[in-house]
Amino acid sequence: MNADLWISPRFFHLSFSVLRILGMFASCVSVASVRILTRVCALVLLVAVGLCSELRVRVRLADGLVTEEVLEADIERDLISVEFKQGDGALITFVADFKQDVKIFRALILGELERGQNQYQAVCFISRLSRNEIIPSESMARLRQKNPHAIRLAEERRGLEQLTMSAAVNLSQASQLSSHIHNMCSEAREAIYTRESDVKHWLDKGVDGSIFEVLPQTTEAPSFQACHSTKDLWQPCLCTYSLRLEWYPCLLKYCRSRDTTGKGSTYKCGIKSCSKGYHFTYYVPQKQMCLWDEET
Ligand SMILES: *[C@@H]1O[C@H](CO)[C@@H](O)[C@H](O)[C@H]1NC(C)=O
Repeated sequence: MNADLWISPRFFHLSFSVLRILGMFASCVSVASVRILTRVCALVLLVAVGLCSELRVRVRLADGLVTEEVLEADIERDLISVEFKQGDGALITFVADFKQDVKIFRALILGELERGQNQYQAVCFISRLSRNEIIPSESMARLRQKNPHAIRLAEERRGLEQLTMSAAVNLSQASQLSSHIHNMCSEAREAIYTRESDVKHWLDKGVDGSIFEVLPQTTEAPSFQACHSTKDLWQPCLCTYSLRLEWYPCLLKYCRSRDTTGKGSTYKCGIKSCSKGYHFTYYVPQKQMCLWDEET
């Protein structure tokens, strides 16, 4: 079903090297106009060449609605981002930072103005990125589609991962984990969460412990109620938020080719698409920070 998705040949990257040399040349020559002109050309070419490439795919969400997902790859910074709007209006952004092996989820959730909330509430969830969760940025940048109007469904629907987010991350020091947290999560300031097991891993790697704040326990049973069964808006409770990356390239597919001498070789020619759900649980000091989590 995704025969119209393919990985374009690497040959495009040659032009990138040429561009870099041009760029270096431009920054050495102090004539501003030359520099600007080269920048403009480089920008136009970069987009054409697909170094910072963007792929827009139409995806059917679980509630039947169709959304447009924007997948971007940046080879230089070695990252992939996926962004889409859910049926409830929330904007979900996922970033895979391959340089620091970190994944970042950001949800901008529409607030309830009549209940005194901001227009939207930002929440960030940070976790380790494992190898093979998503294809490399370099392949993503070369992913092309024949039919941009096709409505896509993932080939493999993966289950819902439960994540207990028991620590908060201090935004002003978060670049120790990933240089992208600061930009992505500045609006989430007091709402950047991570797991205990991830904290342990980062501490072992030498990250400064002062960037984490352990939250009141979320695992040991009766200390706090779930927000959806808490009536009082000012009571602390355990909030949950679920999201699903409905379509992303999770694996590379390889094809065989034969050269003129008859020797076979393999090359990256396509992708397998996956869908995966995440269910986050974390402590909030007041139920009113978790109003979506209501009993229905
Ligand atoms: C976050 O870190 C900064 C810089 O170290 C510190 O000044 C600030 O108090 C910390 N914030 C919290 C909420 O702990």
